[in-house]
Amino acid sequence: MTASRLTTPAPYAAPPSKQAIADLLTEARDRTLLLISRLSDEDLHQQHDPLMSPIIWDVGHIAHFEELWLTKNLDGPIEFSEMPGLYNPFEHPRATRASLGLPTLAEMSERLREIRSHVLDRLDTVTFDDRNPLLREGYVYNMVLQHEYQHNETILQTLQLKKGEPYRAPRSIAFAKRPTRNPEMISVEGGKVAIGTDDRTAAYDNERPQHTVELRPFLIDRDPVSNARYIEFIADRGYEREELWSEAGRRWLVETGATAPKYWVRRGDHWMTRTMDLSATPDPVRPVCHVCYYEAEAFAAWDGKRLPTEFEWEAAASWDPSTKQHREFPWGNSRADSKSANIDQLSFDTAPIGTYDRNVSPAGCYGMIGDVWEWTSSDFHGYPGFQSFPYKEYSEEFFGSAYKVLRGGSWATRPGAFRNSFRNWDYPIRRQIFSGFRCARDAG
Ligand SMILES: [Fe+2]
Repeated sequence: MTASRLTTPAPYAAPPSKQAIADLLTEARDRTLLLISRLSDEDLHQQHDPLMSPIIWDVGHIAHFEELWLTKNLDGPIEFSEMPGLYNPFEHPRATRASLGLPTLAEMSERLREIRSHVLDRLDTVTFDDRNPLLREGYVYNMVLQHEYQHNETILQTLQLKKGEPYRAPRSIAFAKRPTRNPEMISVEGGKVAIGTDDRTAAYDNERPQHTVELRPFLIDRDPVSNARYIEFIADRGYEREELWSEAGRRWLVETGATAPKYWVRRGDHWMTRTMDLSATPDPVRPVCHVCYYEAEAFAAWDGKRLPTEFEWEAAASWDPSTKQHREFPWGNSRADSKSANIDQLSFDTAPIGTYDRNVSPAGCYGMIGDVWEWTSSDFHGYPGFQSFPYKEYSEEFFGSAYKVLRGGSWATRPGAFRNSFRNWDYPIRRQIFSGFRCARDAG
């Protein structure tokens, strides 16, 4: 890897200092502004895809979410529905947001500065009251930071879909070539494992409470599925063999006519793919990206395997059988930096599998954090004893069988918005997200 221009901030340790919080807020905003700094007003206001908001909407939504939680809420309880209508995601579906009369970038920048200045003034006088779960150890600040980090990733999905000239990505690292690794499976003993967390400083409500789950022994791929393996699947007529696809998967295939991951095109006898402004043949040793749940499921069937459940995934990423402890990250409990994993929008691409020595879980799985979000076979539900906090529109509104859980974070995920217990979710047809997968199998 070459040296990094962007830097990854150190997280603050509890109890947080106000200066550390202010620094993290500044750093988060600098990153958002860096990502959009090369875009014209037209780029920012355009609907690049019906799935995504105009980028200026995300920016306004980030700021008004912050205003809601870090100013209004500190003066008395609020409801999420108090979010100004223009930026309330429940009032305006993404596909309609370009017609909302959104401010120009100059107007929006002024609004961002205004809100931020109120937030910092309020931070000066706030007390981190232990009796208030929103303020205890600065939780609400972490929540707002994570929200901005998560919208950075959403903005990058839009930028990958951008109309007109491709987005010129501000890359700060590039990767050395790596040799191919043979596919291997890791055996996980199962038994009683701890799933989720009781953390109240940063975790979302859907990660709590920590609870014990009994798992049967299973095998799980050591590495995420690579482009090379995925190309074998395509070449073996994977998209044409009905028996590999679930009924819903077959419907998706008929509706879309898909023959390869999103952003792949056939050029003569080979595939080409594009990540932002770089086009290349898919690197055989990098994880496959931009596949939907149904594609992952069909590949697994072709490979004589299945997708892991989210509990199996979490056990393989976090459970240390020697200490019977749940790790916060595959490498331990220390937060990620740029040497831990391919994260934080430094590369704007996946990395060759094996690049990060440290990114290995106690079970021996590589790359469970970073590169690509990994599809699991689990629907998105609350854990036993789930309590919505602090607003039901984050998780609870989405519980049910419409969504599948993804785990692990991608190259576009900022530190602070991933951990072993972090749960992402999306419709099984989605593939504009930075999504890949690994497979599992019952032991014996
Ligand atoms: Fe949001």
